[in-house]
Amino acid sequence: MLPESGIITIDGPSGVGKSTISRKVARALSFTYLDTGAMYRTVGLKLQESGIELSEESAVRHCLENTRIELVPAAGERADVGVILDGRDVSRKIRSPEMSMMASTVSALPAVREKLTRMQQEIGKQGKIVAEGRDTGTVVFPDASWKFYLDAAPEVRMHRRADQLRQSGRDVDEKALLQMIMERDHNDQTRSIAPLCRAEEAHVIDTGRLSVDEVAEAVLQIVREG
Ligand code: DC
Repeated sequence: MLPESGIITIDGPSGVGKSTISRKVARALSFTYLDTGAMYRTVGLKLQESGIELSEESAVRHCLENTRIELVPAAGERADVGVILDGRDVSRKIRSPEMSMMASTVSALPAVREKLTRMQQEIGKQGKIVAEGRDTGTVVFPDASWKFYLDAAPEVRMHRRADQLRQSGRDVDEKALLQMIMERDHNDQTRSIAPLCRAEEAHVIDTGRLSVDEVAEAVLQIVREG
């Protein structure tokens, strides 16, 4: 039996395959895919372009009050979710390694987390959501019907991310990329608000030795079992 409502959360570190798996699972269930990382990337871009000092909380809050983020559903199974920031298409811009780090940095700011968590919970009210991120099972949707935590060794994740970047026409320095992934893991796991950690009740899947289809099938099987 396939579920007709509910929220599925898929959390884990960067490059573990969350987006690909979440898109596949959402498609198989006719659920909406919610890419929370895209929202942090977009706020990272906005704050970077605004030139605001990140330590100035009231300036950050003011900037966020005047920020409009619209998510555009992915065009296909392999495509990323698109984003319109204040009326401008920033879909490609937010996917650079530089914006990955910026997203990780701004995601530690209370004003940013408050705004995006609220937005995500609002979207979640429609139900039938596959939410992907770092804190979707622990903070954003603590009552989600199914929670998953994907994990894999940093080297495995670096190679996957390198392939993705090459496919989108970007040059890759593998050593620098590995270092960035480990730095981002550290930032995301050690920040004081909503750090990356697995929800106690989450199903843990090591994606290192499994294909995308195998991971998606493992998730779907647990969901089908109810
Ligand atoms: O999933 P991603 O690589 O697009 O996420 C980019 C950064 O955004 C990630 O390093 C940390 C932050 N993030 C977060 O703090 N909480 C989320 N739910 C999703 C992303």
